[in-house]
Amino acid sequence: MSAPTIAPSQNPHYVRLGGHEPIVRLVDAFYLAMDTLPEAATIRAMHEPDLRTTKGVLVKYLSEWLGGPKLYAPERGAPMLRRRHQPFAIDSAARDAWMACMRQALSEVCTDEPLRAELEAAFYKVADFIRNTDDGGSTRPHPGRPREVQPDAVAAPHSSLS
Ligand code: HEM
Repeated sequence: MSAPTIAPSQNPHYVRLGGHEPIVRLVDAFYLAMDTLPEAATIRAMHEPDLRTTKGVLVKYLSEWLGGPKLYAPERGAPMLRRRHQPFAIDSAARDAWMACMRQALSEVCTDEPLRAELEAAFYKVADFIRNTDDGGSTRPHPGRPREVQPDAVAAPHSSLS
């Protein structure tokens, strides 16, 4: 895919990271880490053997989430990431394995240390929001659902900025 033009955005992360091409490298490094880190074997098994389609979707999502061109929603609709991850049992070990892969990828692609720290924190918020299974195996309610809001849980914004 050729690099899309940058849309004006309040979120500077896309520009700070360097635009489309570093996102493609980040996603490649992320799934390579998932293929190789022993602690990621469980979450790797949740994915299709062939990751090409998944990689393309994550590139589009991250472009938009980081404040770049909106490549995801026009094609796939509202992200609703918690709902989209509902078929998979995601406990804190799965969240931490996902984060280990993303930390590894960021360490390879993002040399700007303050940006890397911001992005790690932003990814962690989403990964923890997506967690849907307590460590004992019981289903965890949606943290953003009205009247079921847990004091320590906040809904993940569709942006890496907050
Ligand atoms: C917390 C641990 C996580 C696990 C175990 C996990 C696992 C998965 C799996 C198994 C899929 C399906 C892939 C496929 O169709 O082949 C998926 C899709 C996806 N994940 Fe995650 N994920 C996690 C966290 C995240 C986070 C933190 C983000 C975003 C920052 C994210 C973004 C996405 C996106 C955009 C998709 C595609 C959704 C669509 O179909 O449109 N995931 N994830």
